[in-house]
Amino acid sequence: MTIILYFSRKDENFVDGEIKTLSSGNTEIVAEKIGQKIGAPSFEIVPKVAYPYDYQEVVKLAQKEKTEGIKPLYQTLNIHLDHVANIFLGFPNWFGSMPQIVAHFLEKTDLAGKNIYPFCTHEGSAFGFSLMELREICPDSNIQLGLPVRGSRVGKADEAIANWLAEYKMNGGKLK
Ligand SMILES: Cc1cc2nc3c(=O)[nH]c(=O)nc-3n(C[C@H](O)[C@H](O)[C@H](O)COP(=O)(O)O)c2cc1C
Repeated sequence: MTIILYFSRKDENFVDGEIKTLSSGNTEIVAEKIGQKIGAPSFEIVPKVAYPYDYQEVVKLAQKEKTEGIKPLYQTLNIHLDHVANIFLGFPNWFGSMPQIVAHFLEKTDLAGKNIYPFCTHEGSAFGFSLMELREICPDSNIQLGLPVRGSRVGKADEAIANWLAEYKMNGGKLK
């Protein structure tokens, strides 16, 4: 079984040089597109305490989480991973890597032996250090080829997503 698992934050964000309000997070949009193309169920990592609406506030908080190694709490996810072989794992790039809440989720969840297909949205740094961090946190998972998408271009990402998924389907569910 294949699932999509992602964290995404809507509200104020910095897009093409200005602050804009997003009604859906960029990573969530990519997650939805993947879901439509492969027909897999989607699960969202939702913080117990919502991140601030204000862009400057979330930047301050996310930086504090990173520098102090804070492990933000998330709401319990109703997923049974026993029959899950493939996970499309999505997150935004925050300060050059994955948000602390995603790292915390991965630390607490046993994904050994599963194929992980990472995707991220970003504003220029692509995956940054996140794939290195992912390999460190999930040493026994099979980390497959990932897809970085520029957040401000998610609306135009269908072809890139389709090409990435075509390779996944061609290889019988394996991206190399
Ligand atoms: C707290 C914070 C830190 C960010 N740090 C980076 C970064 O280091 N590199 C980068 O390319 N984009 C960075 N961004 C931009 C986001 O990665 C980008 O807007 C992404 O598409 C947001 O996804 P979301 O809407 O799913 O949360 C940051 C955004 C926020 C809010």
